[in-house]
Amino acid sequence: MLVTGGTGTLGRQVVPLVQKAGWKVRVLSRHAQDRGDGVEYVAADLLQGDGLDAALQAVDVVVHLAGGPKGDDVGTRNLVRAAERAGVRHLVHISVTAVDQLPLTYFKSKLGAEQAVRDSSVPWTVVRAAQFHDFAFKTVQALAKLPVMPVPGGVRLQPVDARDVAERLVELALGEPAGLVPDLVGPKVYSLGKAGKVYRAGGNLTLTGATIGTRTWEDFLAEHS
Ligand SMILES: NC(=O)c1ccc[n+]([C@@H]2O[C@H](COP(=O)([O-])OP(=O)(O)OC[C@H]3O[C@@H](n4cnc5c(N)ncnc54)[C@H](OP(=O)(O)O)[C@@H]3O)[C@@H](O)[C@H]2O)c1
Repeated sequence: MLVTGGTGTLGRQVVPLVQKAGWKVRVLSRHAQDRGDGVEYVAADLLQGDGLDAALQAVDVVVHLAGGPKGDDVGTRNLVRAAERAGVRHLVHISVTAVDQLPLTYFKSKLGAEQAVRDSSVPWTVVRAAQFHDFAFKTVQALAKLPVMPVPGGVRLQPVDARDVAERLVELALGEPAGLVPDLVGPKVYSLGKAGKVYRAGGNLTLTGATIGTRTWEDFLAEHS
């Protein structure tokens, strides 16, 4: 199984679970190095596209977690084309809740990435997840460094623990291609502030028909205090 972004916050949770399920794991990263963890690391930059054919050689299932502030649409298109050439059997992609409603450049790029997977001839599964606790934690830490901490009103979030996301992704990767599956959100909704119509209207919140993680923000904070 190839995991792109296997070195990131989510990927570091996914890789050991895949190994535990008995699969050999190859991780695609821009900086390949042997970490002595039984994982094969291959160097490739999704934005450049170089090295992708080698990375996908003899790969059955791809879990695509790599992402950055810019260009996820371009990188995912490159990955999808290489996966089609390699005859990959199942491509699992992590997307973001309300990705089709938020008119920000980042979300447009994430939507383009999702679309590239959905238009692919490789059988696929896409799951949209809410913000991870780690992301909320880093955001709060950054805001706390400002002389006056801005706390926008009216925004509600339903953050999810990256470990819950990792468990769901591995379950999906080990199953059959399932198309767009229900969003994955955390167990509780929290107020934060006001950032835009979608967030105020709760377009990012999924209280029905979603898969709900188990670990709350309070659980996460207790582990990080
Ligand atoms: N964070 C959230 O709250 C959240 C919520 C929903 C969905 N997601 C999605 O979940 C995915 C993982 O998020 P994360 O928080 O784990 O991200 P992260 O910690 O920032 O890790 C990003 C990963 O992407 C890889 N990467 C970045 N640019 C790359 C490139 N051009 N070529 C190859 N690899 C590249 C990095 O690998 P190297 O640095 O080793 O190259 C790293 O492993 C992303 O697609 C993100 O959009 C995140």
